[in-house]
Amino acid sequence: MRIGLIGTGRIGSFHAGVLARHPEVESLVVADADASRAAGVAGALGAEAAPDVTALFAHPLDAVVIASATAAHAELIARAAGAGLPAFCEKPIALDVPGTSTALTAVAEAGTELQLGFMRRFDAGYRAAREAVRSGRLGRLHTVRAATSDPAPPPAAYLPLSGGLFRDCLVHDFDIVRWVTGREVVEVYATGSDAGPAMFREAGDVSTAAALLTLDDGTLVTATATRRNGAGYDVRMELAGELDQIAVGLDDRTPLTSVEPWASAPPGKPWTGFLERFAPAYEAELDAFVRLVRGEAPNPCDGLEALAALRIAEACERSRQERRPARVDAID
Ligand SMILES: NC(=O)c1ccc[n+]([C@@H]2O[C@H](COP(=O)([O-])OP(=O)(O)OC[C@H]3O[C@@H](n4cnc5c(N)ncnc54)[C@H](O)[C@@H]3O)[C@@H](O)[C@H]2O)c1
Repeated sequence: MRIGLIGTGRIGSFHAGVLARHPEVESLVVADADASRAAGVAGALGAEAAPDVTALFAHPLDAVVIASATAAHAELIARAAGAGLPAFCEKPIALDVPGTSTALTAVAEAGTELQLGFMRRFDAGYRAAREAVRSGRLGRLHTVRAATSDPAPPPAAYLPLSGGLFRDCLVHDFDIVRWVTGREVVEVYATGSDAGPAMFREAGDVSTAAALLTLDDGTLVTATATRRNGAGYDVRMELAGELDQIAVGLDDRTPLTSVEPWASAPPGKPWTGFLERFAPAYEAELDAFVRLVRGEAPNPCDGLEALAALRIAEACERSRQERRPARVDAID
């Protein structure tokens, strides 16, 4: 299989490494707005670097992987669709519903596949949680607690382009809540704090956020995120039902210390960040994409799934700004 990868930054260079090692990938050509960055990644992997995106699309390709900065996603998705190529794209498609819908229309009209990079769907813990809910082992769910805590904030320049904490970060939690529970979010009530470095206030963003989501069966979900968690990288989900409760992401690397005198050993070395914590999930999602391109497996996360998660994030942003609950079906 011949794959073209666009965007060789943090996540793109990681994806490039996964693809370069994949037994089904015969050739990999990469491009980046910064041609020297693409050349560096290609050189390290024995891949080919195209001088720009147009040159990449001139190659004979079977599929495209898009890991550029968010602002370029929608246009590159449409370009791949126009070329008749299946595409994998990092989240999000775009930062608003109209931009997302335009890209999805291009894909639908071309009849191509688009897989979105919600890698938590491939994490062993979240998969086990989904199975536990489906099996009935937990009984009727009453409460779900989802949390994403980054150890340190991204560069200040990233914030104004990120879409804010709900669209950039909590969107992963919104997607995985839908996927694990199999339910839709109907209403949200969200707030945030811009305490900490001035860069959050200057970007109109928040450094910590909390959302209360109501699912269509009445289950209540809290989803929290912060950019500054001194203890380490912490991504977790707890699901509590009438029969049992379980946790995803609770192990000896969870940066959480019990202060009870009888507690056992303190946590071990915390996860350093998403690339370490979710490395197997990133590999599995690209393996699923290869199988999708080969026609061997269905699409595990299409564009409509990404649109659904974005609408929840948009509703949270509206709720935060207007300081009132917001219905997800009012987002268009
Ligand atoms: N799924 C996840 O866990 C996850 C994690 C990190 C980032 N992301 C997403 O991946 C994307 C990239 O994030 P990152 O952290 O790697 O950013 P980054 O800034 O490290 O890299 C982005 C790269 O895209 C390149 N670029 C920008 N515009 C381009 C264009 N028009 N054509 C080609 N290249 C272009 C930049 O030069 C840069 O090298 C973002 O959309 C982000 O939301 C997802």
